[in-house]
Amino acid sequence: MIDKIKELIAEAEAFKAQTKEEVEAFRIQYLGKKGLLNQYFAEFKNVANEQKKEFGQAVNALKKTAEDKVNALKEELESKEEVKGVYGDLSRPGSPINLGARHPISIVKNQIIDIFSNIGFNVSEGPEIEDDWHNFTALNLPEYHPARDMQDTFFIQTNPDVLLRTHTSSVQVRYMEKNQPPIRTISPGRVYRNEAISARSHCFFHQIEGLYIDKEVSFADLKQTLQYFTTQLFGKSKIRLRPSYFPFTEPSAEIDVYWGLETESDYRITKGTGWLEIGGCGMVDPNVLENCNIDSKEYSGFAFGVGIDRIAMLLHQINDIRLLSENDVRFLEQFKSAL
Ligand code: PHE
Repeated sequence: MIDKIKELIAEAEAFKAQTKEEVEAFRIQYLGKKGLLNQYFAEFKNVANEQKKEFGQAVNALKKTAEDKVNALKEELESKEEVKGVYGDLSRPGSPINLGARHPISIVKNQIIDIFSNIGFNVSEGPEIEDDWHNFTALNLPEYHPARDMQDTFFIQTNPDVLLRTHTSSVQVRYMEKNQPPIRTISPGRVYRNEAISARSHCFFHQIEGLYIDKEVSFADLKQTLQYFTTQLFGKSKIRLRPSYFPFTEPSAEIDVYWGLETESDYRITKGTGWLEIGGCGMVDPNVLENCNIDSKEYSGFAFGVGIDRIAMLLHQINDIRLLSENDVRFLEQFKSAL
């Protein structure tokens, strides 16, 4: 019998387990109520007196071996589980990380910012919820000025002094109020107009406006700057400044780029004229400078504004402006390879 116990000790020592269940089964087999040890303890009274000592020692050794084994295995399995908790199953195949894409509006905005930072412009931003002064009055659009109707404005109903900005010119007012010339800044941002939503226009879109104020800034500087811009962005250097009207600039002009008439899409984009309008510009009206505490006798400047959405649509062949705000990942994922 003692030999049998020694055999069991060796077996217990060699026992290995992968799961908690296996450890539990082992424990029950050796240390459970009806387990081997209790059977041997019950046997004790039948053992001959001269063998009792050796028998007792062997059973105790078996008990200790079994108990130590159970404890060691439990600890081992628990520490394995901890590792799993932190790193997951280390043996499973890797899952590819799904990279995001920049939004086409951001892509084009960043391109334009790069182009202008190369010639010394900084970036300025301002609030989308504006007051009347920064969006209209300071820009030479006093109350009841008919040109206010040019931009269908969303007002906060309970307070006509609070509105959603209709252009980022409001940021330029804020910038001039805080900074003296020389000023070279571009202001990108979202703007809002109460317009019917269609494939070509939306009630919110994005603009980037530029402002340059210094001594002796001329219309020629404006044209050169715009030409540099269209060459960099579109690879097209032929532009045309068509007389127009904005309350905050005098003289004012629409900016047309010569797109060409080589392909069918050139015809479509330019409605058969070869020319594409991309924005407005002009020399900052002296009244605007004075409203912002800049001496209009000492300083002059130019301003321009272009729509980012239209340019993004043009550069990336997007045929519906609404796609830009629908957050459809199937659309957005197509810009993964862009900047
Ligand atoms: N703020 C004008 C608009 O939103 C664009 C513009 C900017 C025109 C600067 C002239 C000078 O229509």
